[in-house]
Amino acid sequence: MPLKLIAKAGKLSGLLLVALFFYSTSFAQQGRQVINFDNGWRFNLGAVDNGEKSDLNDTQWRTLNLPHDWSIEGEFKKENPATPEGGALPGGIGWYRKTFTVPAASKGKAVYIDFDGVYQKSDVWVNGHHLGFRPNGYISFRYELTPYLNFGGKNVIAVKVDNSVQPNSRWYSGSGIYRNVWLVTTNKVAIDHWGTFVTTPKVSTASATVALKVKVKNNGAHTSPFTIKSMIYDAAGKVVSTSGYAVLKTNMADTAFETAINFTVKTPKLWSVESPYLYKVVTQIVTGKTIIDEYTTPLGIRYFNFDADKGFTLNGKQMKILGVCNHHDLGSLGSAINVRALERQLQILKAMGCNGIRTSHNPPAPELLDLCDKMGFIVMDEAFDCWEWQKVQYDYHLYFKEWHKRDLQDQILRDRNHPSIMIWSIGNEIPQQADSSALRIAPELAAIVHSLDTTRPLTTANDRPDKSNKIIQSGAIDLIGYNYHQFDYAKFHDRYPGKKFIATETTSGLETRGYYEMPSDSIRIWPENYDKPFTREGNNVSAFDNVRPPWGSTHEMTWKVMKKYDFLSGMFIWTGFDYLGEPTPYSWPSRSSYFGIVDLAGFPKDVYYMYQSEWTTKTVLHIFPHWNWEPGKMVDIWAYYSNADEVELFLNGKSIGIKKKTGDDLHVMWRLKFEPGTLKAVSRKNGKVVLTREIHTAGAPAKIELIADRKQLKADGKDLSFITVKILDKDGNVVPDADNLVNFKINGQAVLTSVDNGDPVSHDSFKVPYRKAFHGLAMAIVQTKEKAGSINFTATADGLQSAAIVLTSK
Ligand code: GAL
Repeated sequence: MPLKLIAKAGKLSGLLLVALFFYSTSFAQQGRQVINFDNGWRFNLGAVDNGEKSDLNDTQWRTLNLPHDWSIEGEFKKENPATPEGGALPGGIGWYRKTFTVPAASKGKAVYIDFDGVYQKSDVWVNGHHLGFRPNGYISFRYELTPYLNFGGKNVIAVKVDNSVQPNSRWYSGSGIYRNVWLVTTNKVAIDHWGTFVTTPKVSTASATVALKVKVKNNGAHTSPFTIKSMIYDAAGKVVSTSGYAVLKTNMADTAFETAINFTVKTPKLWSVESPYLYKVVTQIVTGKTIIDEYTTPLGIRYFNFDADKGFTLNGKQMKILGVCNHHDLGSLGSAINVRALERQLQILKAMGCNGIRTSHNPPAPELLDLCDKMGFIVMDEAFDCWEWQKVQYDYHLYFKEWHKRDLQDQILRDRNHPSIMIWSIGNEIPQQADSSALRIAPELAAIVHSLDTTRPLTTANDRPDKSNKIIQSGAIDLIGYNYHQFDYAKFHDRYPGKKFIATETTSGLETRGYYEMPSDSIRIWPENYDKPFTREGNNVSAFDNVRPPWGSTHEMTWKVMKKYDFLSGMFIWTGFDYLGEPTPYSWPSRSSYFGIVDLAGFPKDVYYMYQSEWTTKTVLHIFPHWNWEPGKMVDIWAYYSNADEVELFLNGKSIGIKKKTGDDLHVMWRLKFEPGTLKAVSRKNGKVVLTREIHTAGAPAKIELIADRKQLKADGKDLSFITVKILDKDGNVVPDADNLVNFKINGQAVLTSVDNGDPVSHDSFKVPYRKAFHGLAMAIVQTKEKAGSINFTATADGLQSAAIVLTSK
């Protein structure tokens, strides 16, 4: 029977002293060992008979380290069953095996394997025993290995991954064990998997109440009394609150029970997007003087509210969630998770002023949530892209009935301690919005979420946000989510009086980085009037923010509405980064998206600077496009600017005029006849120059420039440096149409892991040591080895002066 008791901090002063004693003597996690299990797997692409058998000879299989995505290593082909919508890369069946030993000393302990995510339909065996099947490619799951292990001997884990039946996704999924794997060893009495839940029910600047629930599992026959102790540490490692609770319990073999502890933290440092202060809660199970288990839970102390009129407040301060939607792929790295690659994406978005992430349309890698906690992003954590009705033939609708409860529970249990998460989404554009079955399913899903967490509101991302929507009618949703329909925002309360609003998905602006068509001042809706006067040259889309799909908007259109009304609590733009698959407005030969504010390689498109000028306090002056045109062509020049009253443009020293944003303008524009030379823009405030920018007509490609985002790397076999490759003329100007083929060489303690250039149409492999520039730029990503040392990277191209760069790893 569950035992639920509450002990207030400070009441058990004797225990408090004991707890402090344990902490001053030992800080490392005790009683539990969590080891990364990524290295040294064998892999076979294709079906294998008896692949699970311990004695199978796998010595001919490829050796690799996880995380691994085999699709990204394949060839882009129209015929691949994923279709261009799914990224046009191969799927198939893959087998992974790992042989490992477990120390004899672990006998009597409990051993688990944790998978953060396997795409998809995974079966796992240990020593020939089937442990389970999980169809959902995004969910994290654990199996207990204990009864089947050879302690002190050899063991074999075998994993079959089946991504052969396609299409099963509307975007690129990747294939394989694409997230981390962990081996966890605990005592038989231990804190359960995802066994803590921390909330902050009362927060003020003077004091915060922190409530912790701890679920203890005893799968042995432990019958002596033990104590649960918990301490809150601040970011400097100092204990700021301690609570001890004695549990006197005998004969509790094979039971699980839950206990609750409240703490007080005086003058807490609050978690915010500007200052994401993190505490941690360390919980121990102690018997006598032995720490049987120790478990760390992240803690951010904050309070937030969605209000029907005032919109969103965080720690009592009104603000908007300025978010983006992202899919899980990492461009040329595929879906294989890499923390540095995720961190870089978030850094690029943060510098734009973005403060929110929607994990469209599935549970993310846990590391993304850790980074959002640390870096100050508000997360909308999403569960499903469909329920019982399909979007594509073989998607999750096949498994929804049997698996939705388990998958949704696991997602909430895994994620609910992250302070960054402030919204749960139980679905994106669920086709059953239109059907009465939603009246049954939405409340059921809401009940699952609310049974595990009532501290965050629940939403669905609705593409039919009108009154006919059965999900909204069901009353199960706390926040009404609109996908698109930006011109209905202002009338929201006429439709839904007293309800709370969130723009779960907006925009879907279409752009190819570095490609421009004139004139730029009329909005083009694909496909209706897209061809006139656009040329569709090379499956490009003009990067003036003026092309949108019928359901979406340009970036400026939505932001203008969004910024007007307080009750519009926030938005998630489709999308922050380009992603593989869904190449709207085209299809093959295009194979990746045009929706990103940042391209697939991580190069910002121009509209990035519109957001930066609006969403940050930075002083911005960004002028575009380039200045290389046919003589006499009429060219539009746009400027995004901030912290200035006006911008003056000069061509070869002659003023083209002063422009000022008026009304709700977000940019200014000049139209002028091209003549080669220098364009110069000067922004001024109160008559004083704030910033100047120059663009020169570039000459022929002459040399390569390499710029590494980081030169000092960690020798951990995972760290990355993103090296920007620029094609310059002899004077150092980027050549805007350069497409030179650049060859890369790397020596030393790193490998070239992938290359890209952001071109959605390229079919070149990401895994080769060369890349053509696209609009003057390419990207090379190098990954360290586990040995420290220097890394020499060179880039050469026919007819160009080569470039070299030296990095180091420690
Ligand atoms: C939305 C959908 C997204 C993506 C987007 C493209 O309707 O929710 O997943 O497909 O359209 O504009």
